[in-house]
Amino acid sequence: MPASSRAIVTNQSGPHQDLARRVSRALEHPLRKPVADHTREAFAAASRWLADRADRPLILDAGCGVGLSTRRLAERFPDHAVIGIDRSADRLSRDHGALPDNALLVRADLVDFWRLALAAGWRPARHYLLYPNPYPKAAHLKMRWQGHPVFPVILALGGRLELRSNWRLYVEEFALALTQATGIVAEASRYRPGDAFLTPFEAKYHASGQALWRLVVELPHAPDRVPALQGES
Ligand SMILES: C[S@@+](CC[C@H](N)C(=O)[O-])C[C@H]1O[C@@H](n2cnc3c(N)ncnc32)[C@H](O)[C@@H]1O
Repeated sequence: MPASSRAIVTNQSGPHQDLARRVSRALEHPLRKPVADHTREAFAAASRWLADRADRPLILDAGCGVGLSTRRLAERFPDHAVIGIDRSADRLSRDHGALPDNALLVRADLVDFWRLALAAGWRPARHYLLYPNPYPKAAHLKMRWQGHPVFPVILALGGRLELRSNWRLYVEEFALALTQATGIVAEASRYRPGDAFLTPFEAKYHASGQALWRLVVELPHAPDRVPALQGES
């Protein structure tokens, strides 16, 4: 991966004016998209893997890319079970050495995987969203996690949620959406990784001289925050 990386270019001058409306909608209307078979199968396999480690607190590395962060988190938290999830088979297949016994990489769509995890009662102790795709054009708000209908599910899983991005506005919008949905206040703060990069994107952005931003928040496990489909309690 080249060390140079261009800073985010956006046509937004501040938080998206439609953000609050989209968050309200996600809190009021259930996400009806059917769960894809391949993610259902991947989730079942991950559940079996986790059942063999039932005594360990769970860490989710959502959008793990090539899985370096999953490996590093597994080394940093050897008594936890760490699951890295990404939809890109290409990224997941890159050889970054053997996985520690307490780490698993899963190919799945997070929009489905998160919903299955919540329905199965998973309660991650830690949940990482490391450098999600920014979708910086205003027209793409609904593809950012804070503008996506799955947003309430991410929060409802609970645990210590950590978002990192090279786009300050992404983290600020996430904080606004979080407060709207939960009443909990969290701030975007500057993140200086030193030499201990958790992910390839973090290393690349830092090497390009870009500022990094993060938000860390402790969330309760709150499945009731997600609107139920009719016929479900
Ligand atoms: C910008 S990359 C960051 C990867 C890694 N976290 C890092 O920092 O190096 C964003 C990753 O999120 C993944 N992704 C985006 N949307 C996803 C989805 N709906 N389900 C699963 N993975 C997704 C992409 O495949 C990509 O690998």
